[in-house]
Amino acid sequence: MTMQQHRRMDVLFRLALVSVLALGAARVTLDNLRKNLGETRSHKYTIQVPIEVSEEEAIEDGCNVFEGKWVRDNASYPLYREDSCPFLVKQTTCLKNGRPDSFYQNWRWRPHACNLPRFDGLKLIEILRDKRLMFVGDSVQRGMFESMVCLVQYALPNDVKRSLQRIPPRKIFKVEEFNASIEYYWAPFIIESISDHATNHTVLKRLVKLDSVAKHSKEWEGADILIFASYVWWMYKPTINATFGSLDNIQEYNVTTAYRLALETWANWIDSSINPRTQKIFFVTMSPTHLWSWEWKPGTDGNCFNETHPIEGSYWGTGSNLDIMGIVEDVLGRLKVKVNVLNITQLSEFRKDGHTSVYGERKGKLLTKEQRADPKNFADCIHWCLPGVPDTWNEILYALLLQDYRAG
Ligand SMILES: *[C@@H]1O[C@H](CO)[C@@H](O)[C@H](O)[C@H]1NC(C)=O
Ligand SMILES: *[C@@H]1O[C@H](CO)[C@@H](O)[C@H](O)[C@H]1NC(C)=O
Ligand SMILES: *[C@@H]1O[C@H](CO)[C@@H](O)[C@H](O)[C@H]1NC(C)=O
Ligand SMILES: *[C@@H]1O[C@H](CO)[C@@H](O)[C@H](O)[C@H]1NC(C)=O
Ligand SMILES: *[C@@H]1O[C@H](CO)[C@@H](O)[C@H](O)[C@H]1NC(C)=O
Ligand SMILES: *[C@@H]1O[C@H](CO)[C@@H](O)[C@H](O)[C@H]1NC(C)=O
Ligand SMILES: *[C@@H]1O[C@H](CO)[C@@H](O)[C@H](O)[C@H]1NC(C)=O
Repeated sequence: MTMQQHRRMDVLFRLALVSVLALGAARVTLDNLRKNLGETRSHKYTIQVPIEVSEEEAIEDGCNVFEGKWVRDNASYPLYREDSCPFLVKQTTCLKNGRPDSFYQNWRWRPHACNLPRFDGLKLIEILRDKRLMFVGDSVQRGMFESMVCLVQYALPNDVKRSLQRIPPRKIFKVEEFNASIEYYWAPFIIESISDHATNHTVLKRLVKLDSVAKHSKEWEGADILIFASYVWWMYKPTINATFGSLDNIQEYNVTTAYRLALETWANWIDSSINPRTQKIFFVTMSPTHLWSWEWKPGTDGNCFNETHPIEGSYWGTGSNLDIMGIVEDVLGRLKVKVNVLNITQLSEFRKDGHTSVYGERKGKLLTKEQRADPKNFADCIHWCLPGVPDTWNEILYALLLQDYRAG
């Protein structure tokens, strides 16, 4: 890659981030409307789901579920239908927003050394009986949360009551009969920052408090399963304004330095507050972006727009920073509490076709016809369509939870 391309990538990365990492107030009304969905039923229903993990469902010893390939599967995928999930926000409903192809929904991730168990939403909700599962992170992580909600709600019998509540910066999906909840908590840097308001935030103005996590962590304390992710908000520039210690002393930090300090702050909380016998922690590695088509198709000058098929053969985009990946590995490796890594980066790298592209929104509004006609400036190659790639992240999470459940 030439120096010029490097510089250009940096600028484009910034533009892309500014345009898509902004939430609109429009969403609030929608969610409040949805909140009451399903709350009119009072019929009591009790399902005892037999949880039996057959041999096919077990992950074979030594199988790295993150190494594999995408295979076409029109019969079993998607795992739910876009229009069957009332809990999806506009940002992810690509077909409804006008995407002409739906191939991106028909891919199954097949690890080289084993098969993933088929996702069974009833088994998952049984595993979550009397529990809280919480996703923590930015809007990409919110996509993983929504995917999980859709996967589960698709499996529930019609008369099982479900609800989605919005208590910013949280979203809470509840299945009362199981006393189970699947939650989302907005914290784009995991640690505290001035971007922690659920809607009033912008990547243009970032200030992170590298040594502070208490405001957030007190909300995480009671959760049984916590799934963390944080990446793209850090990457807007090579440096970031931050404090460490005194709030009056704001300094520009190299992002890699800042990321390490932030993750260590989080890690200290994990080691001092998590009970590994009753709580499980996961960390999701960076979700890749597909902002520059010359990376997979040399000589072209586009982005993820118009892409309909996964990349074949080996591929790792420059947007997925290896220094950051190394820091994650290092910090997690030194924890006393075991944190499971959901290393979804490589498998998602192949999916240049899975992004919302021009069939999503910007600042809380769907793109206009004119904006859609200008994919160079308006395609979102960071977020994912649903059903889609985040479903696979959840299938893997499910497989690991099932494995643990079976082990007792
Ligand atoms: C899946 O469907 C697509 C489009 O209908 C078709 O082109 C493809 O051959 C099918 N693949 C398989 C494996 O059936
Ligand atoms: C419901 O689940 C919560 C955890 O989310 C737990 O604290 C509570 O005891 C459960 N209630 C019952 C009646 O089991
Ligand atoms: C948004 O947050 C900024 C500070 O981060 C504040 O100055 C501004 O008043 C807030 N705007 C609204 C509409 O709440
Ligand atoms: C840090 O803050 C100062 C003052 O607001 C600003 O001029 C500078 O651009 C910021 N640096 C970064 C990396 O955002
Ligand atoms: C930031 O730190 C990384 C890793 O230590 C180094 O490679 C990079 O050159 C640094 N960047 C700046 C702008 O200092
Ligand atoms: C996108 O694909 C369509 C149909 O294949 C083609 O007509 C159009 O030129 C493509 N647009 C871009 C920007 O590549
Ligand atoms: C995730 O997998 C990649 C290979 O795909 C590897 O290079 C990286 O170290 C792994 N990250 C972690 C945190 O384990």
